[in-house]
Amino acid sequence: MTNASRTAIIIGASRGLGLGLAEAYLDLGWRVIATRRNASNGALDALKQKHGARLDLADLDVTDDAGIAALRQRLASETLDLLFVSAGINIDSKLPVSAVSLATFTAVMTTNALAPMRIIEAFVDLVPARGVIAAMTSGLGSVAANTTGGYEVYRASKAALNTLLRSFSARNPRRAIVAMHPGWVRTDMGGAGAAISIDRSVEGMVNVLAAQLGKPGCVFLDYQGKTLPW
Ligand SMILES: NC(=O)c1ccc[n+]([C@@H]2O[C@H](COP(=O)([O-])OP(=O)(O)OC[C@H]3O[C@@H](n4cnc5c(N)ncnc54)[C@H](OP(=O)(O)O)[C@@H]3O)[C@@H](O)[C@H]2O)c1
Repeated sequence: MTNASRTAIIIGASRGLGLGLAEAYLDLGWRVIATRRNASNGALDALKQKHGARLDLADLDVTDDAGIAALRQRLASETLDLLFVSAGINIDSKLPVSAVSLATFTAVMTTNALAPMRIIEAFVDLVPARGVIAAMTSGLGSVAANTTGGYEVYRASKAALNTLLRSFSARNPRRAIVAMHPGWVRTDMGGAGAAISIDRSVEGMVNVLAAQLGKPGCVFLDYQGKTLPW
């Protein structure tokens, strides 16, 4: 199968890693469906100018169940070789969980753990056996590697996501599922002092995902293909 007949959907592609992934798959010749919360950020529009019909733009707030259902209906005839949920937030990361408001706790958990699973459940039947499903987690989501603390609610949300991905995998054992750690990346979330560029992270993730296409099971990998402890 040629890249021209492959399709990726990148959820949360307005900026940062999601935008980088959308651009990378377009450059590889794939068709890309890229979602954004709203049309206010012009980065995807600039990509659309360049790639035309190979880029399909859709508005989606990942916490909006009705929006997920509407997009699923709109894409009913699609075959998705890659379903990648990248959207995520990190609020009040310096506070211990006891000091975080209920609203913040709920927003982080809903966006980072519940929303990706709602989306995966809604779109899984559009992904063929040869495809792969990925969600952007974090090394900070590793329970086993949490020896230093910090980022309490964010860590908890990504650990929850990891567990929910494994539960989904237990129900869908033939599916290829990747809990992806992108590295510490220079995005709005990662900050200017982060270790690697978006391009480096994305190039690595694209290679890692290519190797996971059609491979049953749920794996926790970083952008270099290294297995992380759950
Ligand atoms: N950067 C790192 O070092 C790093 C490390 C580990 C994991 N991650 C994970 O990687 C993913 C991408 O992070 P990033 O570094 O690219 O962050 P970013 O630059 O802050 O971008 C976050 C993206 O998520 C979208 N988003 C947030 N809430 C959303 C919602 N409710 N509906 C739709 N889209 C929403 C944002 O859309 P708007 O433009 O509309 O806000 C934006 O496109 C996240 O899941 C993050 O936790 C990042």
